[in-house]
Amino acid sequence: LFAGEVTFLKGVVAMSGLPPADRLEVCFAGRSNVGKSSLINALTGRKALARTSNTPGRTQEINYFCLGEDRYLVDVPGYGFAEAPVAVVQKWQALLKAYLTGRPTLRRAFVLIDARHGIKAVDHEIMSLLDTAAVTFQVVLTKADKIKTAEQDKTLAQVRKELARHPAAFPELLLTSSAKGDGIETLRATVAGLV
Ligand code: GTP
Ligand code: MG
Repeated sequence: LFAGEVTFLKGVVAMSGLPPADRLEVCFAGRSNVGKSSLINALTGRKALARTSNTPGRTQEINYFCLGEDRYLVDVPGYGFAEAPVAVVQKWQALLKAYLTGRPTLRRAFVLIDARHGIKAVDHEIMSLLDTAAVTFQVVLTKADKIKTAEQDKTLAQVRKELARHPAAFPELLLTSSAKGDGIETLRATVAGLV
């Protein structure tokens, strides 16, 4: 696993609540229900570190996890459809955008895309935001266990093509399954390798 312990630090509901920007951090962003929290659990080998659910809109705060002493893993609320009151959703969407564009120590944003669905318009919106803020993002395809290899290859090719329009996109894609563990070791090495 990772060197050092993984612990929950805090849930943040406003930019003023962010911990000091004193170490490298990575976040896991994506549409509601894409599997962000599940991926953090798979990555850290902890089943219930981040709360997951069938209901889109489960994560409503920016959740900070300490990875050893020198980096943060950040689970953020989803974007797009969520089963929560409109005013509440708007509040966390605004926070999410402020966070993604205003966090100097955000070293890389992992943008999760459902391997069955590919990149949607809302994903392109967030990616454009990251382009503008010059935050490097890397696409992680999720739930690979739900489709066959041929379909996976099709999504990969399509996503690769669509990423060409985003200057902040990191060229290497990751294909993962939190349920089966595919791609998790590579993602772990990627996170650990950032300096
Ligand atoms: P929000 O916090 O609501 O934005 O969702 P999220 O992106 O954090 O998704 P979450 O991790 O809560 O997972 C959503 C649902 O997808 C849950 O029912 C998970 O069990 C399921 N899920 C997540 N990853 C995988 C995967 O790799 N394979 C399969 N089969 N199901 C998955
Ligand atoms: Mg979540």
